[in-house]
Amino acid sequence: MKPLSTPEQILAAMTYAEKLAQLQIVWRPDSTEAGALARNGAGALFWPATAKATNALQRTAVEESPHGIPLLIGLDVVHGQFTIFPTPLAQAASFDTEVAAADARLSAREARSTGVNWTFSPMIDVSRDPRWGRVVEGFGEDPYLNAVFGEAKIRGYQGDDLSSSTSIAACAKHFVGYSAAEGGRDYNSTDISVQRLRNIYLEPFKVAVTAGVASVMASFNAVSGVPMHANREMLTDVLKNEWGHNGIVVADAGGVGELVEHGVAANASDAGRLALSAGLDVEMGGSLLSGNEPIIREGVLDPARLDDAVLRVLRLKQALGLFENPYVDESAAATGPDEASLSAARATAARCTVLLKNHAAVLPLKPRGQRVLVVGPYAESKDHLGAWVQYFASPTTTSIVESLTAALPGSVVTALPSATFFDSDPGLQAEAAAAAAEADLVIVAVGEPSTLSGEASSRSSLNLPGDQEELIRAIAGSGTPFAVVLLTGRPLVVSEWIDQCPALLVAWHLGTEAGKAISDVLTGTVNPGGKLPMSFPRSVGQVPIYYNHESTGRPARTGGSLAHQRPDVGLTGPTNTDDYFKSKYLDLELGPQFGFGYGLSYTSFELESSPDQALSVALDGLRAGTRLCFTTIVRNTGTRDGDEVVQLYVSDLLASVTRPVRQLRGFHRVFVPAGEERRVTLTVGFDDLGFWTNDAHAGYIVEPGEFRIRVGDGLSFQEFRLTVTPPSS
Ligand code: NOJ
Repeated sequence: MKPLSTPEQILAAMTYAEKLAQLQIVWRPDSTEAGALARNGAGALFWPATAKATNALQRTAVEESPHGIPLLIGLDVVHGQFTIFPTPLAQAASFDTEVAAADARLSAREARSTGVNWTFSPMIDVSRDPRWGRVVEGFGEDPYLNAVFGEAKIRGYQGDDLSSSTSIAACAKHFVGYSAAEGGRDYNSTDISVQRLRNIYLEPFKVAVTAGVASVMASFNAVSGVPMHANREMLTDVLKNEWGHNGIVVADAGGVGELVEHGVAANASDAGRLALSAGLDVEMGGSLLSGNEPIIREGVLDPARLDDAVLRVLRLKQALGLFENPYVDESAAATGPDEASLSAARATAARCTVLLKNHAAVLPLKPRGQRVLVVGPYAESKDHLGAWVQYFASPTTTSIVESLTAALPGSVVTALPSATFFDSDPGLQAEAAAAAAEADLVIVAVGEPSTLSGEASSRSSLNLPGDQEELIRAIAGSGTPFAVVLLTGRPLVVSEWIDQCPALLVAWHLGTEAGKAISDVLTGTVNPGGKLPMSFPRSVGQVPIYYNHESTGRPARTGGSLAHQRPDVGLTGPTNTDDYFKSKYLDLELGPQFGFGYGLSYTSFELESSPDQALSVALDGLRAGTRLCFTTIVRNTGTRDGDEVVQLYVSDLLASVTRPVRQLRGFHRVFVPAGEERRVTLTVGFDDLGFWTNDAHAGYIVEPGEFRIRVGDGLSFQEFRLTVTPPSS
């Protein structure tokens, strides 16, 4: 057999047009176009929907294209291809990175078996504005949470060896700052300070690059006025040179052409030149060539930059093992979930649920002898897959009412035909209230349909759509105990009904096995142990609201109600002028309705923490790798087994720039049987105490001084003072 050519040898034989052809992933071509593109040496195509069609395209590329280079085959496998796992936001609520890793491993196995070798996931945009529909695709409002979940996804997709038949290339997206869209309106402008850029938005991407992510996707927004598809400082100076990303940088769909709309490129050719020169390697949307003719004139691009981009593509193909074996075994290709993937989907889904209220232990349901009524649009709906699933994703197998009926054979479970998510029907509400009066317990299954979150799905209101809030009030009026199950792609405003509602379980969009997983939690087979990865605001007017905001000069006291009446405007406000000129709203209580890290359980816990070492450390010791240990004893003081999440937050009390009031730097979800205790140790080191300054050359620094460490469960915390002393020399 002829030895395989190296990427460098292939490159040396390529013409200018052939090089540009390698630098594109063509946006969903039809089958005739796809064949022609493969024959002409296109670098990458979107998945043509079957293993057979993929093999045929690979055969055309290998046997008929100028250099026989196999194709990258891309697909947005975001939380599953056939077996759908919980949405990424839901996964973050598990505070268990193994949930994300399990999703990614199974997604990679399914996808690669069908010929897909490249996914556009994970999204690690730190998301602080729930109006933005894409919050569902990321891991919430905290950079550390996005970093560790992103890393788990990348390792799960890529495995130890990209050429394995169970690995695919990952893509960290969207680089960078896309989630800062003003007003939460998708694709809108952003304006991000150096502080936030470096310390908030870039952090998860830096971790992704360290984890060896194969590709990074440029975002649609601009940073400091320079659209990311043309942002040399970010794509080349930071991502490639400073961090050493040696994979590829891919455009978002149409992002290169949009440089014209942004008003920084005169035409398509100019846009392509700007993008490739800035450090973009692969264009998504197919506009570098017109037919076989390059849109950018030869000689315009720096030849070394062009070759670098092509080499990055060829090396990824080599790492994926595509030159040795471009084909997949069609007979082994996944076409749907199997038993193992369904059981992983069910177990992970239940771990993502968050119990926000459970007054008088309404939940879990009693095992038998109850009349349980299930009402609301989600009682019978099978719309559980969430945003970013493909049409061939396996449909949800069971609704909540079907699952509960199967799980509670000793009870009578009934559902009422209900209005849709958006309709208003007072007749149906009255009927539901009358039926509720006859029941022992009511499950009110409400929320947002999957289509209300995801790309281009921003909302200006965060209330439940349609008349679902009226339905909750009608059930409350019946006097029968009830629990609301909230299925949603984003944090919602629940303040208008939460006081009337005894129990609230957030069930996000949990994927293929959602119905069964929700039933597992409602019946107590699984004890909920998730925590919120994003704050639930009291009102849309508070947005953006997130726990890790910078200190202000005039902080208001958090918690409690602002009891004093302002007679002049008829609003509530603080009682004296000392409190008056503080950062607050006159007409709203301080703080979110439910904050980041909050979540209850069917059991109760007590936490007791202590540092294992003296709380003083020298900066040079920290730099050399010293880590301080905080050990927590978690006692399950209730009667059910359950999970608790120990969380560690750091506050830098005096620094040269204003720092966040606190930042998550570690967490651990631990299972504790009823009546028992477990020890959890979290550590703090150099990387947890510092920040990037405003001076790009100063890098990441830790400033000596006082720090506060808080360790707790999201409800209560123990506090420790840590002193970092200056270096000895
Ligand atoms: C546009 C989205 O912004 C991006 O996240 C996605 O990967 C691409 N389309 C490809 O589908």
